[in-house]
Amino acid sequence: MDTAVRSPASTRYAQCIEASKKVRWDIDRDVIRGRQFDYAKKFLPDRLAQMGGFGFATPEEKRFLSQVQGRTYSNMFGLVERFIAAKMLEVTRSHALGDQVVVEALVRFTDEELKHQELFRRLESMMAVGMPAGYRFVLDPDEVADVALSKSTWAVLGLTCHIELFTLDHYRQSIDKDAELSELWKDVFLFHMREESQHAVLDELEWLREDARLAPAQRDAAVGELIELVGAVDGMLQAQSAADAGYFTANIGRKLDAAQEAALRDGLLRAYRWQFIVSGVRNERFTQILESMLTQAQMQRVGAALAPILAHTSALQ
Ligand SMILES: [Fe+2]
Ligand SMILES: [Fe+2]
Repeated sequence: MDTAVRSPASTRYAQCIEASKKVRWDIDRDVIRGRQFDYAKKFLPDRLAQMGGFGFATPEEKRFLSQVQGRTYSNMFGLVERFIAAKMLEVTRSHALGDQVVVEALVRFTDEELKHQELFRRLESMMAVGMPAGYRFVLDPDEVADVALSKSTWAVLGLTCHIELFTLDHYRQSIDKDAELSELWKDVFLFHMREESQHAVLDELEWLREDARLAPAQRDAAVGELIELVGAVDGMLQAQSAADAGYFTANIGRKLDAAQEAALRDGLLRAYRWQFIVSGVRNERFTQILESMLTQAQMQRVGAALAPILAHTSALQ
């Protein structure tokens, strides 16, 4: 006899399982389909790449910049999915003898993130052949995961929920709408978004469940850790944007003057901040969830921590 306790949210988990089965895809059969990237086309769409910040660049250079950013964008997902999958395994363990529908939904979540990491590794190896030599992804997924997983589950689930919500926004608001992108690059993020739609729901459910377990002082500490995690993400973006600026300048066949060089570096950091921090903070659902958990004072703490990053990216909005 099944004595496991059914949680009230079981139906939503069951819906995620159904949707996950319906959209499930295979890397080669459905996504890559023997194709290569089209380097005559852009990868990351203009709005996500904040292309307005690179007024010094020729059309060809802008296309290359979109491809450099698109390569880093893909690698960033492979990176964050390492700690997301590890945290989800841990969260799943805490449900192991409870509602088995919840366990199945979360096991599928982790399984999909493992597949996504494999997909992003495949893409990197393809782009390494198709693009000029010298690109470096300077961040180590395991080192980043060590930092992320040293924080409380509430903070990690908060960051994860933020990431998975902006993933959906990026596809629906920008990638889907741009007809000038490499078809393979675009398809990758279409298929990715289809599975991430369920993840965003599950993140919210698990984040709320974790939140309900916390005493006020624990939640207050967790807010500080979420702020620290966003700071760590920003540090990663600073390092990778500097590396990508170096790769770009080494491959455009002309020397940028000091002002152009500064605009490149600032433009890349601003674009990465927009992609990986600000667009998620602007997601309405994310704000609603956060507001449902935090006091006004805690919301203000989060707002104050984000203010310099928001100010930096607001120039082009
Ligand atoms: Fe993913
Ligand atoms: Fe995900």
